[in-house]
Amino acid sequence: MRVVVTGGAGFLGSHLCEALLLDFNEVCVIDDMFRGKQKNLENCKESAAEMGIPFHIVMKDASNPESFEIALRRLGGSVDVVYHLAAINGTRWFHERPDLVVRVNHDTLENALNFATSQGARFIFTSSPEAWGEQTIMPLGTHSDSIFSPSHIHQRHSYGASKYIGELLVQHAIRTHSIDARIVRPFNSYGPRLPGDSHGQVVSMLLEKCLSEEPMEIHGNGTQTRCFTWVEDVVRGIKLVGELEIGIDGTELTGRAFNLGSIVETSILELVEMCIGVSGSTIQPIKTSAHPGDTSRRLPDISESQQALGWNPEVPLNEGIERTWAWMKNKN
Ligand SMILES: NC(=O)c1ccc[n+]([C@@H]2O[C@H](COP(=O)([O-])OP(=O)(O)OC[C@H]3O[C@@H](n4cnc5c(N)ncnc54)[C@H](O)[C@@H]3O)[C@@H](O)[C@H]2O)c1
Repeated sequence: MRVVVTGGAGFLGSHLCEALLLDFNEVCVIDDMFRGKQKNLENCKESAAEMGIPFHIVMKDASNPESFEIALRRLGGSVDVVYHLAAINGTRWFHERPDLVVRVNHDTLENALNFATSQGARFIFTSSPEAWGEQTIMPLGTHSDSIFSPSHIHQRHSYGASKYIGELLVQHAIRTHSIDARIVRPFNSYGPRLPGDSHGQVVSMLLEKCLSEEPMEIHGNGTQTRCFTWVEDVVRGIKLVGELEIGIDGTELTGRAFNLGSIVETSILELVEMCIGVSGSTIQPIKTSAHPGDTSRRLPDISESQQALGWNPEVPLNEGIERTWAWMKNKN
C-alpha cells in the first residue's frame, strides 16, 4: 500500500512508520519537526534501504495543501491510506499556547481529511481520551459524553476540544463525502522516543529525572491514575485500523472510534516507584500544584477493539518501563 503518515517523525508516528515499512508499504512522512526529529526516523531509513523500498520525508507543515501535493508526487500519484497523527501534543503546550494547539490541530486535520477525500484514500484520525475532557464515569467508551470546564478557568482543554472537533469533522466527511474514515484513541502511550523534556509526557519525564538525579515533580497528590500503554501495542492497533477492510467480527469499521489502551490503572505515585526501582535512582519526588483540568482517572472500554480488531494490550507496565529505561540510558 501507499501510505501518508502526518506527524511521522514524532513518537507514535515514527514507530508506526517502522511497522508499516516492515510490511513492505511505501511510506511518505509529512512533519514540520515542531516536535518530530530526523533521529526518530533513522531506523526507518535503514530498514527501507535494506528492504529496497522507497521511504519519503516531506519536512513541511501539514496545514498547507502543498505539503500533500508533494507527498502525492513522491508516492507516484496515488495513496491508499492517510494516517493523521500531526498535532501539538504535550500538556504544557495546552496551557501555554492554546491558540497554537487549536489552530494546528484543527488546520492539519481539515487539510489531511480533504486530501484523503480527494484521493479516495482511507483516513485514520488519531484522537485522544482528552476528547472526553473531565468525564468521571468510567470506563470511557463510545457512549461517554464530553465534559469541558469553563475556558476562563484554564485552557487545558484546547487539546481535548480540538480532538473533539476533529472527530466531529471526520463524522461530517463520512456523511457528506462517503469517505472511509476511522478514529483511534491511544491511552497514555509510552516507550522509546517519548519526549521527556519540560513539554514532554510523564513516563519519560520521570525517567529523565532518574537519569539526571534531578528533583522529580508530581502534580497534585499523585493518586490520579492512568492506563499506560506500551508504544508497540498502540501502534499495532493504529496500523490494524488502517489495514482491515471490515472488522474480524464482520462489522463495519467506517465511522467507528477504537480505544487503544491498557485496562490496568496505575497511580502516578506507583509509576514513580516503578521508575525509581528500575533505574536505581535515589531521588525523592516533590509534590507541586495539580495541573488544572487533570482528570483523576482515564480508563478505556476496549471491548470494541477486542471484538472488531482482535486487539489487546500485551506488554505489562513493569516490562515496558524496563525497555524504556534501557533505551533512555543509551540514547545519546
Ligand atoms: N502519545 C500518546 O499517548 C497519545 C495519546 C492520545 C493521542 N495521541 C495523538 O497521537 C498523535 C501522535 O502523538 P505523539 O505522542 O506521537 O506526539 P508527537 O508530538 O511526538 O507527534 C506529533 C508530530 O506532529 C508533528 N507536527 C506538529 N505540528 C505539525 C504541522 N503543522 N505539520 C506537520 N507536522 C506537525 C510534530 O512535529 C510531531 O512530530 C497526536 O495526534 C496525538 O494527539 C497521542
